[in-house]
Amino acid sequence: MITELPGTIAPAPGDAPPGLAADHPMRTVTRAAAFDPDGWTPEVRSRVADLFDSLADEWSSRDVPGREAPVVDALDRGLAAAPPAHRRVGLDIGAGNGLHTRYLAPHLPVLASIDLSLEMLVRAPAEPAHRVQADASILPVADASVDVLVLCNAFLFPAEADRVLSPEGVVVWVNSRGAGTPIHLLASEVDEALPGPWDGVASTAGWGTWSVHWRRR
Ligand SMILES: C[S@@+](CC[C@H](N)C(=O)[O-])C[C@H]1O[C@@H](n2cnc3c(N)ncnc32)[C@H](O)[C@@H]1O
Repeated sequence: MITELPGTIAPAPGDAPPGLAADHPMRTVTRAAAFDPDGWTPEVRSRVADLFDSLADEWSSRDVPGREAPVVDALDRGLAAAPPAHRRVGLDIGAGNGLHTRYLAPHLPVLASIDLSLEMLVRAPAEPAHRVQADASILPVADASVDVLVLCNAFLFPAEADRVLSPEGVVVWVNSRGAGTPIHLLASEVDEALPGPWDGVASTAGWGTWSVHWRRR
């Protein structure tokens, strides 16, 4: 069950509400990754990698005040709402050029930025996260070895998330611009996509949305 928490962070002054991105091509890929086990094909992977390689040079233009609010709020209030656990190892999935690394690092002493796009990763800071070029549908990590899987505007591959997360592990799902984010799922859809019963909390920050999910105890 997902419990909605009231939003506590207003949109930044002058930040106009985003339009819906429901017909964006990345929305189709997002839904295929989450709900169709055969949806992530080599052709789709290659197309996505090329797209983000081509966007890497201008990605830092998205680093505007307030964009960090949903991920910071998810880590503060979302992790606090999850059952207590010792959380050390985190993966920032689809980390891009590492815009969020500085917010994740204080929560996660062992942290890796995972991305398919080499052009994105080479623009990410060399520290404190280890940069790893990998496909999040086949992560190069052992079963049950990750405490926190952060997906900020990134594709969810539910079976792989379930494989790599420790029994007390959590999924942190963030859409910086809510339903205006091309790679977007509702908290209830993340809950539905993850294998087995999960619980979680969801909220908003600015125009962004976030949810944190853990296996039902
Ligand atoms: C919308 S960007 C988000 C980047 C960053 N998290 C942010 O919010 O600024 C999505 C990122 O996911 C990466 N990506 C797409 N498919 C992936 C996959 N299968 N495995 C790992 N990364 C992937 C892209 O290369 C891109 O950098």
